[in-house]
Amino acid sequence: MATFFPGVSHTFSEYLLVPGYSSSECIPANVDLKAPLVKFRRGEEPAITLNTPMVSAIMQAVSGPRLAIALAQEGGMSFIYGSQTAEDEARMIREVKSYKAGVVVSDSNLTPDMTLAEVMRLKEQTHHSAMPVTENGAPHGKLLGIVTSRDYRPSRDPQDKLVREFMTPVEKVIVAPATVNLSEANDIIWENKLNQLPIVEEDGSLVGLVFRKDYDSHKSNPNELLDASKRYVVGAGINTRDYAERVPLLVEAGADALCIDSSEGYSEWQARTLAWIRENYGDSVKVGAGNVVDAEGFRFLADAGADFVKVGIGGGSICITREQKGIGRGQASALIDVCEARDQYFEETGVYVPVCSDGGIVYDYHMTLALAMGADFLMLGRYFARFDESPSERVTVNGSYMKEYWGEGSARARNWARYDLGGDKKLSFVEGVDSYVPYAGPLRDGVQSSLLKIRSTMCNCGALTLDELKEKARLTLVSATSLVEGGAHDVVLKETNQQVLFNN
Ligand code: XMP
Repeated sequence: MATFFPGVSHTFSEYLLVPGYSSSECIPANVDLKAPLVKFRRGEEPAITLNTPMVSAIMQAVSGPRLAIALAQEGGMSFIYGSQTAEDEARMIREVKSYKAGVVVSDSNLTPDMTLAEVMRLKEQTHHSAMPVTENGAPHGKLLGIVTSRDYRPSRDPQDKLVREFMTPVEKVIVAPATVNLSEANDIIWENKLNQLPIVEEDGSLVGLVFRKDYDSHKSNPNELLDASKRYVVGAGINTRDYAERVPLLVEAGADALCIDSSEGYSEWQARTLAWIRENYGDSVKVGAGNVVDAEGFRFLADAGADFVKVGIGGGSICITREQKGIGRGQASALIDVCEARDQYFEETGVYVPVCSDGGIVYDYHMTLALAMGADFLMLGRYFARFDESPSERVTVNGSYMKEYWGEGSARARNWARYDLGGDKKLSFVEGVDSYVPYAGPLRDGVQSSLLKIRSTMCNCGALTLDELKEKARLTLVSATSLVEGGAHDVVLKETNQQVLFNN
């Protein structure tokens, strides 16, 4: 006889938080949103703690290096998508790990043999007036000199004049070593009245440029998530097929944590992948696994050695797994069940295995609900895809700015490994769609606004930390009619409200 789960399977929109007593100390500015990313023993600290309980989904349309940097600056962490070659994924990890706040990797580099006409063309495309000259024109090639608009007269100089004839050679350029921090670089810029300062490695290769005009916008990221060497923390997605080739490249590139990216995690494939990582790296490589939707799945992955467990099947905004295959579970019910299993596991073993709620977050308040239900941190796809820093195109649809967002199970992503059940390396049917999401500007503004709402709701619940929220939260199921009562109702909305309603 089949097993029937008791009760109904619920999702976030069916719940509300009932406020609890809040003391006068409980103000949003005092709320601490730190959350463990990886497992730890009772009385010990986790090896990685998030400053903001958000990670970005392992998706082509979401987690590229630009978003990873922006999110780490806000205290969260990205998992770079694994549906690309291992070499490309490792290159993206390196890009994040080598990024220095305020140091811009030049995208208009010259070679000594280029002509003035070519320089002018490049300047027209990029609008950059300072261009480094490197060996082969590579962004991190050996620095040979620099060209600024003071080095040539476009109306008088011959168009075929070579860069080597008019560049300022490196011997005459003030440069700073790669060990310099942003504030020291800024001092050099001011003392020498420079507009830009090239940063170079010991062997003379170019790291990037610090610009005078950028200093103010980069100087403070109080919440940023850094490793012991002050580099941004970043994760990487892996699959259950090519881990023996992929994992070493990602580890060497400096990935701080890995995550098995799969639509369904209660499988021998995941256990084998975890076992391989433990055999080859012990506990030094952190790796999450999933996705599961019940206590049994959680226990299986925790016993198999997962550093965190992801919850959620079919609840993602672009997911059609439930329609295609009829598997899954309401995200709230799945999460509550798994978090209970995590707490029981902690009681029994003394090992706390963090739980990540993956997918299905629509409104900012869903984030607070998920954290109140017990999630340690959240994985978000649609939410991050809307920002400037996501890798997808911004397009205009019916007069509104949109960003493209497609599922890893869509025909566009062709991520067969995510849905792999050991058969052919082909997607025989899709489990995701290709879509647009409303453009939402810079990540920083969006995340800070969401965090303010979370902090504020936590204060309504009398919680200053996420642990306190889990303990003190009082949740209630709502009826369909009370959902209507919760929105603006029985009024005719003015157009000015569109922005507020689209904010999520
Ligand atoms: P949200 O709701 O944040 O969900 O956009 C992101 C999560 O959805 C999962 N994902 C998929 N699930 N088909 C699926 O069934 C897909 O094509 C697909 N792509 C992503 C994934 O867990 C992600 O983090």
